[in-house]
Amino acid sequence: MILRQLRDDPADTEAVREISDAAFGALTPDSTRVPTEAQAAFQRARAGHLAATDPQGCWLAVQDGAAIGFALSMRREGLWVLALTAVLPQYQGQGVGRLLLERAQEHGRGCLRGMITVSVDPAAARRYRRAGFTLHPTMRLSGQLDRSALRDTGELPVHRGNHTHLHLLDSIDRRLRDAAHGVDHELMLRHYDELLVVDTVTGTGYCYRDGGTVKLLAATTRHIATRLLREALAAVPEGAEAKVEWLTAEQEWAVDVGLDVGLTVENHGYLALRGMRPPAPYLPSGGFL
Ligand SMILES: CC(C)(COP(=O)(O)OP(=O)(O)OC[C@H]1O[C@@H](n2cnc3c(N)ncnc32)[C@H](O)[C@@H]1OP(=O)(O)O)[C@@H](O)C(=O)NCCC(=O)NCCS
Repeated sequence: MILRQLRDDPADTEAVREISDAAFGALTPDSTRVPTEAQAAFQRARAGHLAATDPQGCWLAVQDGAAIGFALSMRREGLWVLALTAVLPQYQGQGVGRLLLERAQEHGRGCLRGMITVSVDPAAARRYRRAGFTLHPTMRLSGQLDRSALRDTGELPVHRGNHTHLHLLDSIDRRLRDAAHGVDHELMLRHYDELLVVDTVTGTGYCYRDGGTVKLLAATTRHIATRLLREALAAVPEGAEAKVEWLTAEQEWAVDVGLDVGLTVENHGYLALRGMRPPAPYLPSGGFL
């Protein structure tokens, strides 16, 4: 087996998508779950984006000419983020994941802080704890929305966001987690359904939503975060399952919103952090954190 850098080309980005589907499909009890074409396109686009922005953070494990595993990581202003890693089920438990993680972590050398959203795979939790990360257990909110509980959305004005808000988004990121998402916002703007922004004299915040899922939320006050989350949930398409993930105990404001609008709360995965506490009020995305 060899490790080589991931390339921003269709063969490599498709390999990442296929390995992800196989590895995460094996983790979910309902293996009939088929990713939509939009989700597949996002997987490929994200792999290509990170291969281009962080070539030394993105690695492919190749055996007999075929890709069997990958790790996608990035460095953003002193924060190292592992966006995604997976190994084909038939090659798991043989040390491939450890080698990929070690190689990706070399890219994060010199970063004092690190962040990973961790799946329910116990092997993943073991790997990240062994790599020095603190595992913060997370909750997930999901279900059909009680729309009658969403009617009163409050006074704060919420606007649709776009490219003109990039500096604002980066400022909020720096305040919350000491590191902007920078170029990653451009990809999220292109692929996610909606960006919502609050920009008032009392504070600021933003939130991405894609279909029924709230993808990333950062705000300078809990009041603004709550308003953004309710507004994002109100925009979830009729009949779609709503989902908000990776809530550590610091995000009780979001748990309360979820309970108010009829969502179910359950344990699901971890937020693995190094050199930092969970940012708050903040909901990381599974994709760019
Ligand atoms: C997580 C993943 C990338 C690890 O890759 P891998 O090649 O299987 O990892 P390794 O073989 O290097 O290491 C797995 C470790 O977990 C341990 N492990 C495996 N199954 C386990 C289980 N059920 N419970 C506890 N530990 C387990 C192994 O013993 C090994 O630990 P060790 O090296 O200290 O002995 C891979 O299993 C995977 O693709 N999982 C599904 C997708 C996923 O969850 N990705 C992570 C997203 S955060």
